Amino acid sequence: MPEPHGQPRAPLRIVVVGHVDHGKSTLIGRLLYDTDSLPEGKFEELQRVSERRGMPLEWSFVLDAFQAERDQAVTIDTTQIWFRSRERDYVIIDAPGHREFLRNMVSGAANAEAAVLVVDAAEGVREQTRRHAYLLHMLGLRQILVVVNKMDAVDHSDRRFAEVKREVERYLEDIGLSPNAVIPISAREGDNLARPSSRMLWYEGETVVDSLDRFRPLAAPIERPLRFPVQDVYKFDERRIVAGRIESGILRVGDEILVSPANRAARIKSIEAWNSAVQQVEARAGQSIGITLEDQLFIERGDVISHIQDASKLSHVFRTTLFWLGTKPLEVGNRYTLKLATRMTPVTVEKIETVIDTQSLGSTTGEAVQRDEVAEVILRARETLSIDEHRDNPAMGRAVLLDRYDTVGGGVVDMRGYPDLRQGSEVRSTNVSAVEHLLTTEARAARNGHDGAVVWLTGLSGAGKSTLAMHLERRLFDKGYHVYVLDGDNVRRGLNADLGFGPDERAENIRRVGEVAALFADAGTIVITSFISPYREDRNRARAAAPGRFHEVYVAADLAVCETRDPKGLYRKARAGEIKDFTGISSPYEEPDNADLVVDTSHQSVESCVDSLVAYVERHVRLERATVRAVGD
Ligand code: ADX
Repeated sequence: MPEPHGQPRAPLRIVVVGHVDHGKSTLIGRLLYDTDSLPEGKFEELQRVSERRGMPLEWSFVLDAFQAERDQAVTIDTTQIWFRSRERDYVIIDAPGHREFLRNMVSGAANAEAAVLVVDAAEGVREQTRRHAYLLHMLGLRQILVVVNKMDAVDHSDRRFAEVKREVERYLEDIGLSPNAVIPISAREGDNLARPSSRMLWYEGETVVDSLDRFRPLAAPIERPLRFPVQDVYKFDERRIVAGRIESGILRVGDEILVSPANRAARIKSIEAWNSAVQQVEARAGQSIGITLEDQLFIERGDVISHIQDASKLSHVFRTTLFWLGTKPLEVGNRYTLKLATRMTPVTVEKIETVIDTQSLGSTTGEAVQRDEVAEVILRARETLSIDEHRDNPAMGRAVLLDRYDTVGGGVVDMRGYPDLRQGSEVRSTNVSAVEHLLTTEARAARNGHDGAVVWLTGLSGAGKSTLAMHLERRLFDKGYHVYVLDGDNVRRGLNADLGFGPDERAENIRRVGEVAALFADAGTIVITSFISPYREDRNRARAAAPGRFHEVYVAADLAVCETRDPKGLYRKARAGEIKDFTGISSPYEEPDNADLVVDTSHQSVESCVDSLVAYVERHVRLERATVRAVGD
C-alpha cells in the first residue's frame, strides 16, 4: 500500500525465535547497539549497571530495560523494539516471556513479516528450534533467516558451522521451508551482525543486517478477493455505519456485496473515513473504514462482507492444524470459543485426526493434544460460519481458540474434505410461484393405505446400505406398501451422472436426492435412500426437505469391517491411491449423532437388521386403513 507523502515508510515487522538460551535477547540488544538504534544514554546506563553488579556487560539487559518500560504500560502485552538500518526501519515484536510470545504468535498479534531463527553453535538444533520453526511455517511465514550464534564458543570453526547449518537446513527442508540465509555470528561480540567479522574470514556471505534488508515487506493483499470483517455497527443520526478493517481486496461505493454467513446481498452507499472530509469512493486492504449500505440489513460484529462473486465459504465444520498452548489437553468433545476474524462463537472438538510430533515430524492418531503439540483437529460450530482457508487468505484463515478468556491454541483453517454450504443454497430461478395440488396428502394416504416417508440410510461404503435397502424394499412391498429404493450407485448413473466425489459434489448429490426423496414421499411412497451421505449438514437439509416424514437410519459398521468386505474392490484401490476422496480413507464420514434408528452390520445379521427396519417402518409410518395386506393374503 503506498504511504501518504511525508510519512515514514512502514517498518518491517520481525520476530526472533529459537531455543531457550541460544541468544535471542543478546542478539536483539547487540543489533540495536550496532545499528546505533539505542536511545540516548542507554549504552552508558548499561555499562553502569554491569559495573555495579560486577558483571561483564550483557546485551540482553537492553531487553530488560524495554521490559521495564513495558511493565509500566500495562495494557500492551507485546514489546515493540525499533531499530533501523541504512535501508529501512524494523520493529522486533517481542513479549515478556516464552509463553506470551507463543500466544501472540498463534493469535496473530505478532503478525510478523519475517523471522530470525537463532541456533547455538555448540548445541545445534534443539527442541524449541524445531517447534518454533514449525510454528513459523504453519503460520505461513516464508522469510526466514537462520543465525548460528556463539561462534566464539566453538573457536569460530567453519566445520562446526557447516554441521549446524546442515542440521538446521535439513529440518527446515523437511517442513518445506528454505531459509534466505544461514549466517555464523557471535551476538555478544557483534560478529557478522552489522559488520563482517574479522574472526571468520572463511565466511563470505552477508551480514545479518544486509540479509534482513533483502527481506520484502508484505504488501497489503489488495489483489485478493474482498474481505471486510465487521467489527461494529454504529447508529449515527439516521445512518447505520458498518465499521471494520479491510483485510483483503478493494471496496468501492456502488459495489454489490454479500453479507456472510446470512448470505444477503446489498449495495454500498458510502464510505465513511474517520478523519477525512473528502468523500471517499474506494477503500483498500489495510484501511479501517466505515460504510453505509443502500439496503437495510441486519448486520452484526463477526459478519464478513465480500463481493458476490468470490465470496467466502459457508460451513459449520472445518479442519485446523493448530498449535496447542493450553495447560489442560485438548480433547474430543471439549468446547472452546473460536475467534475467526471478528467472529467469536462456541465450537466443539469433533475429532483429532492426527497429532504431529514437531521433533520427528511423525504423526500419530490420538485422543488428546498436549501443550506445545501440533494437531489436525476438526471443529464444529452450531452456527454457520463464513470461512476462508489459510492458503487462500492468511489474514482470514486463522482460527484462535479461547478457553474462557485465555488463548489456548491457534492454527490455520483448511476445508479439505468439507463442502461449501453456499453451493446449492442459491436460488437462481426467479418469477416462480408454488402451484397447489387439487389432492391432499390425506387423500393419497387413504388410497395407498399409508403415509409417504423417507427412510434415509447413511453409512460407509460397504456398510451394507444397498443390501439392507433392497431387502427392506422387498419385505415392505410384500406387505403391500408402495415402496421404492433410491440407491447411490444407480442415481449416480442418471440424475447425478454429472457429479463426482469432491465435497461440494457430494453435497449437491445429497441435496438433489433429498429433494427427490421428498417428492416421492409427498406422492405417497415410502422411499428408501441408500447413500453414504457423509455430511451431517446435508442429511439435516434432506430432513428439512421432508418435514415430519424423514427417518434417519445409521447403518453402522467399523471401517475395518467395511474394508475387509470391500465388495467392489474400492477400498483396495483407495489405499493404493487410485481413488482420491474415498470416504473413510481420504474423505470424512460424519456419524449421525441422533439417528432415529441404528443397525450395526458388523455385529447383526442382514436378517436381523432388516427385521428391525421393517418393525421401525411399521411403527412409524402411519397406516391409513386396514387394507395394507401382504400380497397373497
Ligand atoms: S455420497 O458420498 O455422495 O453420498 P454415494 O452414496 O452417492 O456417495 O455413492 C457412493 C458409491 O459410489 C459407493 O458405494 C461406491 O460404490 C462409489 N464410489 C466411487 N468413488 C467413491 C468415493 N471416492 N468415495 C465413496 N464412494 C465412491
